[in-house]
Amino acid sequence: MRQLSNVEPVSGQGPDSAGLRRALGCFVTGVTIVTARGVDGQPRGFTANSFTSVSLDPPLVLVCVGHETECFNVYRQCSRFAVNMLGDSQQAISVRFATEHSDRFAGVCWREGWYGSPILEGCVASLECAVWRRFEAGDHMVLIGRVLACEDSTDRPLAYWRGRYRSLPVDDDGSERGDGRPTPPVP
Ligand SMILES: Cc1cc2nc3c(=O)[nH]c(=O)nc-3n(C[C@H](O)[C@H](O)[C@H](O)COP(=O)(O)O)c2cc1C
Repeated sequence: MRQLSNVEPVSGQGPDSAGLRRALGCFVTGVTIVTARGVDGQPRGFTANSFTSVSLDPPLVLVCVGHETECFNVYRQCSRFAVNMLGDSQQAISVRFATEHSDRFAGVCWREGWYGSPILEGCVASLECAVWRRFEAGDHMVLIGRVLACEDSTDRPLAYWRGRYRSLPVDDDGSERGDGRPTPPVP
């Protein structure tokens, strides 16, 4: 049976944060690893599900980076970044890039993309972006990227819903599939 929990606004300030988190968690998302190079050239990355597409022409996507993240300065300064969309066998990578690690990339297969950002192997799709705009929004920075190159596959994505990793049901493959080949960068 459907259960609806109604959270009363607290004196015009909006819902309490637990209620807000619960409500936002009802939105099913994929899981991405957003990567970039630090100023020292080292690969950096963190798990993000705030990714969304913004525009096809020009091709824009966004991701929100929390002010509290260790890598915040990397994304405040970088000129390029990549969005790596995880497949449903890559939950361990999501956990790894969401928890503290001396080197998150150790033991993870990755390569340099067309424009130098780290591309993780085995993802369902990845996008290489040039930073188009950045702006502050509450406790996050909104990072908008212009997509320079992308690749896709027919693999099943990892999903995230109500605070847990999920697999899509096996029998709902769409008829529209990627061909698994990289789309060359726009000159
Ligand atoms: C499924 C999932 C989605 C997440 N999405 C985001 C996000 O969109 N933005 C963000 O700033 N942190 C997000 N996080 C939290 C970061 O991955 C986490 O704080 C990470 O440790 C940040 O790395 P850093 O502090 O080493 O830079 C998410 C975590 C998980 C597990």
